[in-house]
Amino acid sequence: MPTCIVTGGTRGIGAAITRRVAREGGHVAAIYRADDRAARAFATDAAADGLDVSVHRADLAHVDACRSVVTEIVDRWGPAPHLVNNHGVLREARVVDTTVELWDHSFGVNVRAAFVLAQALWPAMESARYGRLVNIGSVTGTTGNPKQAAYGASKAALIGLTRSLARAGARKGITVNCVVPGVYETDMTNQMSQDDQKVIADMIPLGRRGRPDELAHVVAMLLHPDAAYVTGAVLQVDGGLGMGE
Ligand SMILES: NC(=O)c1ccc[n+]([C@@H]2O[C@H](COP(=O)([O-])OP(=O)(O)OC[C@H]3O[C@@H](n4cnc5c(N)ncnc54)[C@H](OP(=O)(O)O)[C@@H]3O)[C@@H](O)[C@H]2O)c1
Repeated sequence: MPTCIVTGGTRGIGAAITRRVAREGGHVAAIYRADDRAARAFATDAAADGLDVSVHRADLAHVDACRSVVTEIVDRWGPAPHLVNNHGVLREARVVDTTVELWDHSFGVNVRAAFVLAQALWPAMESARYGRLVNIGSVTGTTGNPKQAAYGASKAALIGLTRSLARAGARKGITVNCVVPGVYETDMTNQMSQDDQKVIADMIPLGRRGRPDELAHVVAMLLHPDAAYVTGAVLQVDGGLGMGE
């Protein structure tokens, strides 16, 4: 398999994606924001399991950092025609407390970085006439959430970005898709009380939160070279949550 970049790839859903994609073969470069120790521990565990994974630090809130981490990865591991924009920042706030700074940060990280990373890889994918991009959205981007205006708007914007890039790459062998998680077993939801976890599970037609591996499986499928006829798709992987009531 070709080299793949996974953002936010050392913990939570991103870690599951990194490991799942690496299992298919080929190198996976996982980007993390700040925690060097946790990233190194993740890389050591992956190597112990025979997975070909490297970790790269970059704060994707900054355009220069997005571009330089791509250069660092491509210089070391060669062309990376597979990209998973899994990173995301969620800061909850009431409407009246949603500052311009919070808004801009959400869009800078969740949307602009996704575009800048894709843009940095794009010329090589065009030349090779091959590329696979997967953006990780959120159920909040389609259903909304009263305390997540900036997050929800940024995740909805990822759908527009996905479809615009899908059209740009359509005759060039580049597919671009968006996978939309519902509620998953991650640090954030594990910390909720048993009562809250039950309320959430009751809302989900399948009756439980998703396991990160279950999302990673779908991402790996979309990254596969044989998945050449799927592009511009927005695929809900949410136990049916996005169907509404
Ligand atoms: N968990 C869910 O139930 C759920 C539901 C819907 C959508 N999602 C989406 O699925 C994706 C993964 O979710 P998750 O719950 O596993 O993630 P998470 O625990 O919220 O962590 C977010 C990831 O994004 C990275 N990140 C955040 N800001 C960054 C920055 N400025 N620069 C570089 N990396 C940054 C983090 O890296 P560090 O660890 O290095 O900070 C982390 O790996 C996110 O896009 C999220 O919005 C998750």
